[in-house]
Amino acid sequence: MNDHPARQGARKIGVVFGGSGLVGGTMVNFYKQRRPGLAEILAPSSKKVSLSSCIDIRNYLMSTRPDFVINAGITNIDAGSQLTFEVNYVGAINIARATAALKIPYIFFSSAATLPEGSDLPEDAQLPITAGLSNYAKSKLMAEKTLAYMHAHEGLDFSCIRLSIVYGRHDHKIQGFQRLLFSIADGSMPFLFTAKGARHSYSNVRKLPYLVQHMLENRAEFSGRTFHFVDSEPVELADLILTIRDQLHLKRPRKIYVPHSLARSGKNCAHVVLRLLTRMGMKASMPPELMFLGAFYRTQTLSCQRLVGSSFVDPFPSETIYNRLPVILNYYLQRWSQKNLITSYDDRFHFDNTVRYDFEHNPQALLDAIHGDATAPFPDIDTAVAVEPEP
Ligand SMILES: NC(=O)c1ccc[n+]([C@@H]2O[C@H](COP(=O)([O-])OP(=O)(O)OC[C@H]3O[C@@H](n4cnc5c(N)ncnc54)[C@H](OP(=O)(O)O)[C@@H]3O)[C@@H](O)[C@H]2O)c1
Repeated sequence: MNDHPARQGARKIGVVFGGSGLVGGTMVNFYKQRRPGLAEILAPSSKKVSLSSCIDIRNYLMSTRPDFVINAGITNIDAGSQLTFEVNYVGAINIARATAALKIPYIFFSSAATLPEGSDLPEDAQLPITAGLSNYAKSKLMAEKTLAYMHAHEGLDFSCIRLSIVYGRHDHKIQGFQRLLFSIADGSMPFLFTAKGARHSYSNVRKLPYLVQHMLENRAEFSGRTFHFVDSEPVELADLILTIRDQLHLKRPRKIYVPHSLARSGKNCAHVVLRLLTRMGMKASMPPELMFLGAFYRTQTLSCQRLVGSSFVDPFPSETIYNRLPVILNYYLQRWSQKNLITSYDDRFHFDNTVRYDFEHNPQALLDAIHGDATAPFPDIDTAVAVEPEP
């Protein structure tokens, strides 16, 4: 019997693996902050439940008995083959085995890395599985195939959401799209490392929980199927980079396209220099995204027609990466600046310069101001405690 405390009410229980990441964190935030009445969300960290451990997964799902599971857990993009295989593939499959046994829906996130280059790619345009694929692409592709197999043969009730380049707030790492932003803000991108006209699809993480919830409420329509989740209009990488540069009032990167062959040689040289530095005791590494350098030069856009033709209604149809940029830039620049990761950007992004100034130069005045009007007990908690019956 399930005696998990969350089960005491009538609300459903959902488990999110990878709940501290960009995608999983957005899911957790949606259910906890935006729609708290929909479901009680449990989001164990990788320390509590490692996807590389079958026993962890089984024990956790057996003891919590959720009504649905969302898997947004992956290991680092540049992890070695064993860890990538164990976490991204075996972990995903062990969750599927557990959800199939519990007869509950399983939402799995996959990636455009499972697709070839090209324009307007449909869901069934998967790459063939070959040894030459990156560990990440191989593990996601294998997971997609085994989930489809388990749907056909074991009655697994899963839905696969394939994402392209994900944009949104609350990524605590600097990776993917955030790495691009960081390189521009940090001034470490002197020229354009892309080809004129190379275009990609982007996935708005803010909308994603609405799709997941809709899929959970409409299993007959979405079970056993894969859907691309991307903005309808693809974006030219060079144009996006130059737009970010202009919004940050920076001069770099210059509008000079570095040919792929030159960028590749530069990457190889940097690799050699970093190895030398490491031998001299200075640990340095290249951003893992550089393993996808070739993708910056090739067009890959995903068709969203299958989702458009479904019953899902886009909650924010006018949102694009361009009109979300100010919010996203504001969020990350504040964050990176506060962590002293970047210094070279326009100060107007600070939301409260007075507080920052006082903290840096006049902490006593700040302390006095806080003691003056910001230390009273929270009135709503006070009231709730006052009306609580005696035990
Ligand atoms: N971000 C993108 O641009 C993008 C693009 C395409 C597809 N996707 C897909 O979207 C999903 C989520 O990606 P993301 O960008 O949100 O990833 P992320 O920010 O890197 O987060 C990864 C999450 O996985 C967890 N994790 C790592 N190792 C684990 C382990 N051994 N056991 C359990 N959990 C583990 C991490 O938890 P801890 O912090 O506790 O270790 C973290 O919460 C993935 O399936 C990815 O393939 C993302």
